[in-house]
Amino acid sequence: MQIASPVLAEKRPTTPHDLEESEIVERIRSILAAHGSTTVLLAHHYQRREIVDLADFRGDSFELCMAASRQREAERIVFCGVRFMVESASILAREDQSVFHPNERAGCPMADMASCSLVEDAWADLEARGLASTTIPVTYMNSDADLKAFTGRNGGIVCTSSNATRVFDWAFERGERIIFYPDEHLGRNVANWAGIPRDLQFIYDPRLPLGGLSEEDFRRSRVLLWKGYCHVHTHFTADHIEHARSKWPGVYVMAHPECTEEVVAEADFSGSTSQMCRKVAEAPAGAIFAIATEVNMIHRLAYEHPDKQVHTLSRSLCPNMYRINLYNLYDLVRDIENAEPVVLSAQVQHDARLALDRMLAVP
Ligand code: 13P
Ligand code: SF4
Repeated sequence: MQIASPVLAEKRPTTPHDLEESEIVERIRSILAAHGSTTVLLAHHYQRREIVDLADFRGDSFELCMAASRQREAERIVFCGVRFMVESASILAREDQSVFHPNERAGCPMADMASCSLVEDAWADLEARGLASTTIPVTYMNSDADLKAFTGRNGGIVCTSSNATRVFDWAFERGERIIFYPDEHLGRNVANWAGIPRDLQFIYDPRLPLGGLSEEDFRRSRVLLWKGYCHVHTHFTADHIEHARSKWPGVYVMAHPECTEEVVAEADFSGSTSQMCRKVAEAPAGAIFAIATEVNMIHRLAYEHPDKQVHTLSRSLCPNMYRINLYNLYDLVRDIENAEPVVLSAQVQHDARLALDRMLAVP
């Protein structure tokens, strides 16, 4: 007996698979050229090279969010990234703009680790102890739209890996503690950079009653870190760094802040995807890099900078970013007039925008 699983169902691209990739690329190019500035294509750094090559803008999640909000002439924004990025672009878009995702199955497992209802339970724990009024909710960009909306409604803010330190400062100007979700590691690294003593950072584990914390922990906490993680980045270890340093003497090691604090402590630099791209671009010829982040970005950097050595610290691929390909992109753009754009409820749109606008206003 075959069991139909709605969870696994993925729309099969209708683009014939015997079409040469170069032919599909040409077709996409000519469709987009015919649209002119009315359709804009955005691609995150983790996208495959052939997708990034087609993009009008490439960037990290913050830059793409800004690029989406600045597309005043565009009627359609095609976003090659994962769902939380597409939703954020849709929240920031004008009412007469539509945002499209080539594959709606491209989500982010880390975003899924903090469902809005679980975070509401955590907030209720804080309210029951009279601590919610002095707590600022901070959500990483990698979160669902309804969680951003919850955050906005409760005086909170969004951050990305490129502005998280400044966002923490913003939050501490307004409250005594932060509840940060969904990534324990990004939250931990930023709390460390902000100089929050280790014994005032607590992990909130949503699987346990009261997050696994005591009354005293709640009261003392300056940062509550949601127990979520990105499997692409927790893959890297301090041993990988030790190995890289012995293999490539003089190597400059960079790690995305979704890596564990041990890895970030051992690295020479930690920053957003764009910040790491800039480091490579600005380095002199002959520089050697080993990078702890998604492999597609690293391979592209190596390809674009043949005068430098750019290595992966260890291969780690984001399968969700990889779900966007030439086939589903071509399927979308060739019939975009009949495609379904991302639609969010008016309430989610409004409340999530509060949290995103607060982030955009942080200097
Ligand atoms: P950036 O904000 O650095 O682009 O990272 C997004 C992401 O999904 C990292 O896993
Ligand atoms: Fe999510 Fe990690 Fe993929 Fe980024 S790399 S989209 S955090 S699973």
